[in-house]
Amino acid sequence: MGDQSPCLLAMSGISKSFVGVPVLTEVDLDLHAGEVHAVVGENGAGKSTLMKVLAGVHAPDAGTVRIDGEPVAFTHPVEAQASGVAIIYQELTLLADRTVAENVFLGREPRRADPLGRFAGVVDRRAMAERTAALLADIGETSIDPAAPVRRLSVAQQQVVEIVKALAGDARIVVMDEPTAALADHEVELLYSLVRRLVERGIGILYISHRMREIFDLSDRVTVLKDGRRTACRPTRDVTADDLIRLMVGRELGDYYPDRADQTDLGAVRLRLRGAGNARLRGIDLAVRAGEIVGVAGLQGSGRSSLAHAVFGAAPFTTGEMTLDGSPLRPTSPRAAIRAGIGLVTEDRKAEGLALRQSIRDNALLVVRGVFTGRRRAGTADVTELLASLRIGAQGSGQEVRLLSGGNQQKVVLAKWLAVRPGVLVLDEPTRGVDVGAKAAIHELVRDLARQGMAVLMVSSELPELIGMSDRIVVLRDGAVAGELPPGVGEEEIMRLSTGAESAA
Ligand SMILES: Nc1ncnc2c1ncn2[C@@H]1O[C@H](COP(=O)(O)OP(=O)(O)OP(=O)(O)O)[C@@H](O)[C@H]1O
Ligand SMILES: [Mg+2]
Repeated sequence: MGDQSPCLLAMSGISKSFVGVPVLTEVDLDLHAGEVHAVVGENGAGKSTLMKVLAGVHAPDAGTVRIDGEPVAFTHPVEAQASGVAIIYQELTLLADRTVAENVFLGREPRRADPLGRFAGVVDRRAMAERTAALLADIGETSIDPAAPVRRLSVAQQQVVEIVKALAGDARIVVMDEPTAALADHEVELLYSLVRRLVERGIGILYISHRMREIFDLSDRVTVLKDGRRTACRPTRDVTADDLIRLMVGRELGDYYPDRADQTDLGAVRLRLRGAGNARLRGIDLAVRAGEIVGVAGLQGSGRSSLAHAVFGAAPFTTGEMTLDGSPLRPTSPRAAIRAGIGLVTEDRKAEGLALRQSIRDNALLVVRGVFTGRRRAGTADVTELLASLRIGAQGSGQEVRLLSGGNQQKVVLAKWLAVRPGVLVLDEPTRGVDVGAKAAIHELVRDLARQGMAVLMVSSELPELIGMSDRIVVLRDGAVAGELPPGVGEEEIMRLSTGAESAA
């Protein structure tokens, strides 16, 4: 990116404290037209806060923001929007009960004159639907119906709608705060091409991600934040992944994944499925033994999450057989599953129902208190110890969850389930949005739990994680088991089975 391209955005000397605690200290960040500038850092480093300063959500305590060289001081997100700043937040912010089109045009609905001239203008629903469809088609997305309520979309589809919403507003500066955290692999490809298309139009993109691969695939420059300070800003081609990790974490991270189980570590089968199915799954045969981590791979829509939800009783199996520790069990509600000793950590923090205004500690105890009474409760984990082992970076366990960074909220979700000490733990994208250091801590923790006899079923669209953690990988395709792979297979083999490419060859 040459210096001759106009400086679209220049943030300089940005500082911000919350109730006396500094979160950002004299941070500089600039962005050129047509550039992808990555912003990286550990959970809680201040990335999202910096973006919220840009968006007018937070006023900075010090520092200036310039767009096209002109100082701006947004006091409301709407002002930022009008100046061409669009933010796709880490947490999805769509209105669940409105349609896709209504969400895309929220607050700027196209209107047509009332034929009798009585009203200023009636929302032109047809124009809204047509323009939404055109925007979706423009980015190559045809599976989303503009008239569908957002509630019915997958998390991944909602993310696409967020992006389309930004495009509808004619944004020139687009902030993507972990846009791929919820996307499946083929959707990541879609996002990549979308990013490139935006860049060709001269849009500047601030791109926050915990995934190294994306930083290197997409960005021209990368800025590193650590504890609210900028520790580096470099052309991406001048740094390595190890450099970035060192700058972010302040230390080297050794081997990425804990040792796998060997045969002698494995105990009896804890979870078994025989011919299990429902509207989305058919004929699933699967066994997970004590001490074992079984990975579940598959494309978006292959049934990965449906499998997790079925085992957990949220969308139960209707056919076949499920046994837990040898006894038949077909939970018809999550409550029944939890009582029987099954835990589920899902990908969707909001739906997970963290009590945002309550403390970390109370959230960690949410499931335990909700489901167990008296004596049964005594068998649950020591929450203080658990929170310490998860290293939830915060000012103590009394802090409100709403004030935690995204990745730390995900750790609270994990704590909530681990507190129950389930015999079978189902993980659905367990490290979504979690930084590299914390990810390693979570991996270590999950492996430890397996060693203590837990049976773990882990869904992840992050193939390196799946390969690194699993003792065995089950690949789903079209709601059925397409095959099983031994530990340490390559990504290509998983993709081949997931897409069915092997039968075409
Ligand atoms: N409104 C607020 N009040 C008090 N503290 C806050 C508030 N918003 C954020 N914080 C704190 O500021 C710090 C930085 O949070 P931020 O969300 O910017 O981190 P992040 O770099 O985006 O992390 P992640 O990778 O987890 O998304 C965290 O310690 C967080 O708890
Ligand atoms: Mg964040």
